[in-house]
This record gives sequence, structure tokens and C-alpha cells, in this order.
Amino acid sequence: MANKQTIALIPGDGIGKEITQAVKRVARALESPIVWDEVIAGQEAIDATGDLIPQSVYDVIDSHKVVLKGPIATPIGEGFRSVNVSLRKHYQLHTNIRPIRVLGKIPALQHDVDIILFRENTEDLYAGVEKQVSADEAHSIKIITRKATERIVTAAFDYAVANQRKKVTIVTKANIMKLSDGLFLKVAKEVAKKYPQIETDEVLVDNMAMQLVMRPQQYDVIVTENLYGDILSDLMAGLIGGLGLVPGANLGDDVAIFEAVHGSAPDIAGQGIANPTALLLAFADLLDHIGLQVDAERLRQALNIVLSDVNNFTRDLGGHLSTEAYTDKVIQALI
Ligand code: NAI
Repeated sequence: MANKQTIALIPGDGIGKEITQAVKRVARALESPIVWDEVIAGQEAIDATGDLIPQSVYDVIDSHKVVLKGPIATPIGEGFRSVNVSLRKHYQLHTNIRPIRVLGKIPALQHDVDIILFRENTEDLYAGVEKQVSADEAHSIKIITRKATERIVTAAFDYAVANQRKKVTIVTKANIMKLSDGLFLKVAKEVAKKYPQIETDEVLVDNMAMQLVMRPQQYDVIVTENLYGDILSDLMAGLIGGLGLVPGANLGDDVAIFEAVHGSAPDIAGQGIANPTALLLAFADLLDHIGLQVDAERLRQALNIVLSDVNNFTRDLGGHLSTEAYTDKVIQALI
């Protein structure tokens, strides 16, 4: 057997424990040479240690470099900052990749969708530069830099070349935010010139939302800013069957965090009905990242086989299987 590799695991909260349990079971069934080093973050960590992100989290990430993370809830409009955004910023996880593909026989709103979204992950309005000017006025600063833009757009084009993709679509609102989005678009077009073999187009984000709903088949690789990428990837998840199906990789120069695109789903937490597919697909991407491509492909194939039978759907897809029963099916389908 290959040398064991230790992976940092943050189960997260809400449905996090249920879906990470599914990944652990599948990893065992795959006999992947993986050892989990588990730590807690978020509200659970505040309750246990007083810290939102305890030092132990940084220690395991610093030593293992590769992380599987469940969703972590963030209070809305008040309270602590997002653990997710903090980790992306701390480790400079500049490249967020979200593949949106129709799987098996899922009752998707749109078919033949196979889009890879590249989202800048460290700046824009998510940089957290906010100021309370008065009780009735607050400002958020949108940060766009040449360096971060070049990095994400280059990653998108490099991916397109390496994966025989034909087109990269640049999404901004540069007609209104002429300086910030204008810079993103200008730099993106400069980078695009270095890849004459790849078709490039540019679409404004509001039009893009409509085009994605009506004719997503026009798109191949999309590259965009932090906020637009966050919103458009949820929209596209809706097109292909829901949030339970879309994984995300957060890549930096040194550290990589793999997670589902969805959040902690407090409305269904603890009921054993969450769909673990998104996190299982994130785990497949993690397996690719650490050189276990054969296991990654076995897992993706098993998911496709299971999702090709409508009797195997979890509740979010209109079926009745629990998280555990669905995971049993995935394990049985591993070849
Ligand atoms: P959400 O993604 O948790 O849920 C939206 C809807 O999708 C809910 O109806 C939920 O039941 C459903 N859903 C999501 N994942 C599912 C799954 N695997 N199986 C079946 N149904 C699923 O978004 P929401 O409610 O806006 O956020 C909840 C919390 O999660 C918030 O505190 C938010 O800050 C946090 N969050 C964390 C993220 C992360 O850790 N990366 C990402 C997004 C949100």
C-alpha cells in the first residue's frame, strides 16, 4: 500500500458531522491511504475553547497542508467573522474552483451543463474592509488588485488549456464600477491575449444570471470576482439539482481546502437526511490533488452509478434515502 497521508479534517457544524461521517466511511471503503487529523472551529470551538479558530486548527493545517472541511455557520448581520473567509484569507487561498455538472439521472432544470467556475477568493467586497460611518450609514470597500486578478484569470486559462476546454467567459459589472471591475476586466483581457487558442468573451453579471438560467450550455469556463462567483455558483447549483451536488476547492500556493459549496443547512441538521454528494465530490478532488487519481475516479463513477437510479435519491432530490442509506449505496457501487 502507498504511504499514508494525513489530512486535516474540520467536520464543521449543522449537517457538517453527518456529511463528513459519510466521507470517512467512503474513504475506508476505498482503502485510500489516508489518516484524518480532526479539529474543531466555529461556534463549537468558541464553546469548548473560547476561540473561533483555535491554534490547533492552524497547527494541523500548517503541518498537513491539505484540508477537508465541512460547512461552518456564520451569524448573519452581526457576531463573529466567517471562519471560511478567515481561513481563505489567512492561507491566501486565492483560487476557488467550483465545477457544475449534471450527474446521473438527477431531475435537473437544465441538461448538458458542464461549467467550471473560477472565483477570486481573497479580495473584492469579501476583504472585510467595512466602516460604520454613523448609526445610519455603513461603507464596504471593494478591493481589486492586478496581482490577484492576474492570478485567478491565469488559473482559469491554464485550466482551459490543460483540460481541452474551448472558451473562457469573463464576468464583471465594469459598466458601472469602472475603476474596480474595470481593472479586473482590463487585466483579464490582457491575460486572455496570451492564450489565442482559447475563445474569450465578456458578459456583465446581471445578463450572466439570465443567460445561465436560459442557456447555460453556452458556457465552458467562467472567471469572475469573489462576490459574483459566490452568487453565480449557487445559481448554477440550482440548475443542476441543488446545493447538495456542487464541490469547491480553495487553492493557495501552499495549502488547499476542499469543501462543499453549500452551508451548514440548519433547517435539516441532525435529521440524517443531508445529501453528502457535494462533500464526496470535494473529497474526490482532494484525492486527485494528493495523487490518488484512481481512487478519485472510482468514487466519481460510483456516485454517477448511484445517481443514475431514481430510487437512490436523498430528499433534496425528491427521493427518500437517508444520508447513511445513500452512503451505503455509494460504497456498494465502488468498483
Ligand atoms: P445552506 O447552503 O446551508 O442551505 C441552503 C438550502 O440548501 C437549505 O434549504 C438547505 O437545507 C439546502 N441544502 C444545503 N446543503 C444541502 C445538502 N447537502 N443536502 C440537502 N440540502 C442541502 O445556506 P444558508 O442556509 O444560507 O446558510 C446556512 C449557514 O451556513 C450560514 O450560517 C452560512 O453562513 C453558512 N455557510 C457556510 C459555508 C461554508 O462553510 N463554506 C458556505 C455557505 C454558507
